[in-house]
Amino acid sequence: MTLPGSDRPGAASRVALRADLLDFTGDPGFELDPPALRFRADHWLWMDAGRIVAITPGDEPPPESFDRHEHRGRLVMPGFVDAHVHSPQLDVIAAYGTELLDWLQTHTFPAELRQADPAVAQATAERFVGALLAHGTTAAAVFPTVHKASADALFEAAERRGMRLIAGKVLMDRHAPPGLTDTLESAERDTRALLERWHGRGRAAYAHTVRFAPTSTPAQLALASRLMQASPGSYLQTHVAENRAEVDWVRELFPASRSYLSVYEDHGLLGERSILAHGIWFDDEDRALLARRRAVVAHCPTSNLFLGSGLMDWRALADGGVAVAMASDVGGGTSLSMLRTMAAAYQVQAMQGVRLPAWAALHAATAGAARALGLDDEIGRLEPGLFADLCVWDWAVGPVASHRDDLLRASARPLHDRVFAFITLGDDRNLVETWVAGRRFAVSNAPA
Ligand code: GUN
Ligand code: ZN
Repeated sequence: MTLPGSDRPGAASRVALRADLLDFTGDPGFELDPPALRFRADHWLWMDAGRIVAITPGDEPPPESFDRHEHRGRLVMPGFVDAHVHSPQLDVIAAYGTELLDWLQTHTFPAELRQADPAVAQATAERFVGALLAHGTTAAAVFPTVHKASADALFEAAERRGMRLIAGKVLMDRHAPPGLTDTLESAERDTRALLERWHGRGRAAYAHTVRFAPTSTPAQLALASRLMQASPGSYLQTHVAENRAEVDWVRELFPASRSYLSVYEDHGLLGERSILAHGIWFDDEDRALLARRRAVVAHCPTSNLFLGSGLMDWRALADGGVAVAMASDVGGGTSLSMLRTMAAAYQVQAMQGVRLPAWAALHAATAGAARALGLDDEIGRLEPGLFADLCVWDWAVGPVASHRDDLLRASARPLHDRVFAFITLGDDRNLVETWVAGRRFAVSNAPA
């Protein structure tokens, strides 16, 4: 079977890549020279049967039984994790002119209605998953739509590529157009069927996907909590405290809850597998609650800038002990590229007087995200035993980035500042190859 974006279906099981390897052995914090950073210049990374099996210096190549690929001078990093993204919203990426609540009504809900057709849902899922790989993202937590078929199509598309996926049908039983809402009964029936079929199958995990508090009745929030308790290892994903008008609306809808975040707490939805997108309009009590519950904030900087939602306070979350994972939030976000996302994260912090080191951003898109999602024994680092989910990158593409990279090689702090420039100037054109469980996909977006 040939998949879009796959040049080697059924590739040799024993493969080795030679390149500079970059990953993290722990949390770099906000340090510029953290001990948790691991840079192995000119090494071989060996893969067998979908896993990383060894890493050796460049002068210790693997035996001839390995198919050897030379990428000297290139960078190999773990595949990126996108902790929050919407598969049907490639249809509305870069939609002009609105803030969140208008944007949902004007652009997003009409697009999501089209996913009621299973043929559309299937084409959407294929396009989306192929696009993730073509941007260097090998694992993601994804919102399809309310339609069961959209979740099935997404899981199927990821499974065909051997990809790690966290997803589930969207739950929304109010404040949305007919055709985009479920009921308590249909939500429970569809969720149980999807859980049964997908949760724990291959590299799939189920996420109870409450769109956001305004589109679920209290009874549906309680149902999501019950279903989550009954399915160990499942996730909860939702949006929280993204936009001021949204926060005001939630206060009106849930007057008994202390804050927007408390709505989820009060309905039993916060735990260590809860992924909360945005988290801009939090106070100290919210941050303390998140830390106690060990929930994860998915930071979506391109979306927050594009929709004019606000500036997330990363330092306050980190200082409060809350894990932050990087997320594109396409189509509120403007790119599937986690490099573009990290570059925006730097700018969001700069607007608040904070300089985000490249390491903090990169960690939140790789090992940090894996750890926060409970997947650190599977993905996020370049280490024997983990899945061979990784990407080969060119440090620089085009005359401007190449010139800058040449200068930075001779600078006082070459590694951090080269990686920072790679993030700031890079995108999917820098991607040479994506490997998922030892299979090669999405080869070279760079111009010829
Ligand atoms: N809040 C509720 N739904 C959405 C969505 O689709 N995108 C974003 N960015 N925020 C939301
Ligand atoms: Zn979102």
